[in-house]
Amino acid sequence: MRAAILGTTGYTGLVLMRLLAEHADVDEVLPSSSSRNGEKLSSIDPGIGDALLAKTEKFGGKLLSIDELTALKPDVVFSALPHMASAKVCGPFFGSSVVIDLSADFRIKDEALFEKAYKQKPPRSDLLPHAVYGLTEIYRDEIARADLIANPGCYPTASLLPLLPLARAGILEGKIFISALSGVSGAGRKNVTNYLYCERDENSGAYNPGKSHRHAAEMAEQLRSVDSTLDLYFTPHLVPMSRGEAATTTVGLKREVEDDEILRIYENAYSSSPFVRVTPSRIPQTKDVLGSNRCDVSWHREGQTLFLFSVIDNLVKGASGQAVQNMNVRFGFKETQGLRTYGEI
Ligand SMILES: NC(=O)c1ccc[n+]([C@@H]2O[C@H](COP(=O)([O-])OP(=O)(O)OC[C@H]3O[C@@H](n4cnc5c(N)ncnc54)[C@H](OP(=O)(O)O)[C@@H]3O)[C@@H](O)[C@H]2O)c1
Repeated sequence: MRAAILGTTGYTGLVLMRLLAEHADVDEVLPSSSSRNGEKLSSIDPGIGDALLAKTEKFGGKLLSIDELTALKPDVVFSALPHMASAKVCGPFFGSSVVIDLSADFRIKDEALFEKAYKQKPPRSDLLPHAVYGLTEIYRDEIARADLIANPGCYPTASLLPLLPLARAGILEGKIFISALSGVSGAGRKNVTNYLYCERDENSGAYNPGKSHRHAAEMAEQLRSVDSTLDLYFTPHLVPMSRGEAATTTVGLKREVEDDEILRIYENAYSSSPFVRVTPSRIPQTKDVLGSNRCDVSWHREGQTLFLFSVIDNLVKGASGQAVQNMNVRFGFKETQGLRTYGEI
C-alpha cells in the first residue's frame, strides 16, 4: 500500500506522517509539500523515526512535489490542505487514487449551504454526489465503497457522535445548543497574531457564535438528514491548550426518557465501534483521549433537558486519526490498525 500526504508540514500532515509510519499495512509513505518540496524529512521533523525513514527512503526520504506524487500513482491520497486549495490540488488524483480529504471541500452536499458558510461555491460540485461524509461510526458501510471521503471537521466529530444516535432514535426535539472548547492546534500551524503564545496563554473566549461558524452548517446538514425539525446553535471557545476538544450539548427530550434507554441507544449504535467509549458515570476530560483516536461520551439529565458531554483529540479523531480509520475501513484493514485506543497521562 502506497499512501501520499498533501500538506505534510501542517499539523494534521505531521500527525498523518507519524500514524502512517507505524501502520502495518502501509509500506510506502509519500509526503509532499507545496512550500518545501525537495527538503529532507529530517529537516522538517528532526525527531523522525526509523520506521518512517524506511517507508520513505525509496523516494529519497524527502518531501515530494505534486508532479512526482502523480507519477507514483498512490493507492490513497490524504489531503491535509486548506479548503478550496484541497479540491484543486487533488485534481490529478480523482479517479485514480482513493482521496481522503481533511478539508471542508466535500463535507456539505447542499451547495447553497456551503456557499453561505464558506462565501464561495463548492470548488468541485461535480464530485459532491460521489463524496461520502467520513464520520466513520455513522457511515462505515458507505466509506467501505467510497473513492472520495470527506473527513469531518473536528467540532462536528465531537458533537455529532453523541447526538446522531439519539436523533435517529427520535427522542430529541427543538433547539440544540453546543458549547465547545478547542486547543489552539485546531486553527492550524499558522503565523497569525491571535494564535501567538502571549495572546492565548491564560486566555479564553468564545468566537463565531450561534450559526456563524462554518462547522455549524456542516452539523446542521447532518442533523437535518435525520430530523429536519432540530435547530442547531454552536458556540466554540479557544482555550489555552495545544490540542483537545470538549463539547457540551444541551437539548430537549420529546418525552421522559430513562438513563437505561439512553445507554441502550448508545450501545446499539457503538457496540462494534472501538473508538467510541460511553462513560455513563463519568464526565470525560480531554486528557482521557489525548493522542488517541477515541471519542468519549457521557450525559446528564434534568427532567426533559439532556446534557451531552464528549471529548476528542482534534488532531487524531478530529482529523488525521479518523482519516486513517477511514482508510482502514475502505481498504479492509483492521479498523484499529495504526491507531491508539488509549490516551496519555
Ligand atoms: N487542525 C485541526 O485540528 C483540523 C481538524 C480537522 C480538519 N482540519 C482541516 O485539515 C486541513 C489541514 O489543517 P491543518 O491544521 O493541518 O492546517 P495547517 O497546519 O495550516 O497546514 C496546512 C498545510 O497546507 C499547505 N498549504 C497551505 N496553503 C496552501 C495553498 N494555498 N495551496 C496548497 N497548499 C497549501 C501547507 O503545507 P505544505 O507547504 O507542506 O504544502 C500547510 O502547512 C484544513 O483543511 C483544516 O481545516 C484541521
